[in-house]
Amino acid sequence: MNFDRVAPHYRRLERIVFDEQLQAARCAFVRQIPAANRALVVGEGDARFLAELRRAQPELQVDCLDASARMLALAQKRAGQNRVRFLHADICEAAFPPHRYDLVVTHFFLDCFAAETLREVVTKLSGAATDNAIWLVADFSLPPNGWRRWWARLLIGTMYFFFRFVAGIEARRLIDYAPLMRENGFCLTNEKISAHGLIRSQCWRCGQITNATLVSS
Ligand SMILES: C[S@@+](CC[C@H](N)C(=O)[O-])C[C@H]1O[C@@H](n2cnc3c(N)ncnc32)[C@H](O)[C@@H]1O
Repeated sequence: MNFDRVAPHYRRLERIVFDEQLQAARCAFVRQIPAANRALVVGEGDARFLAELRRAQPELQVDCLDASARMLALAQKRAGQNRVRFLHADICEAAFPPHRYDLVVTHFFLDCFAAETLREVVTKLSGAATDNAIWLVADFSLPPNGWRRWWARLLIGTMYFFFRFVAGIEARRLIDYAPLMRENGFCLTNEKISAHGLIRSQCWRCGQITNATLVSS
């Protein structure tokens, strides 16, 4: 897997297909989550979300991990280095201190993995999260039925074909990460669906869900 080749064109390609919809999905909860101390942002790409997160929470310490050196270079340029550590590593080889991060972010990242690796990734990130951590995920999803489902299948299938070819991702199809999140102690506290069901933004929280932990929409 290597996103270096696609990195310089990533934003332009995204805009052609989705305009601002993916960025809106990434930032769906960025102004609603409580202030965090330490964030782990994984597979962040060119850091358009990270830049917004830093505007929303300027005091936050961030570790931003990505396997693509070119994506990381773009991310550094956009988000700056103040309070951000950029880590060039493959998530499968990275090790994190246990219970370190009270905010974890994986936008359009979990969909890069096949089932077995996805389980490893979610388990690893859960282990790095504090007992009350928030986990933000924006990703593609398949609507339950109708033309929306067929349209989503076509578009998602085309994207997998493209990213397998240009970036060598291992996934061949979208896998629902939600059961893995629950197995690892996270509860869904808020969700926004957009683009006729093709995109979902989710806010998960570690531990038992109570009214106090629900994020208002
Ligand atoms: C589809 S892009 C998503 C980028 C961005 N988060 C977004 O919202 O568009 C996937 C990103 O995850 C990174 N990535 C993919 N597999 C990875 C892995 N095994 N370890 C670390 N980063 C990885 C890629 O380099 C790329 O920046």
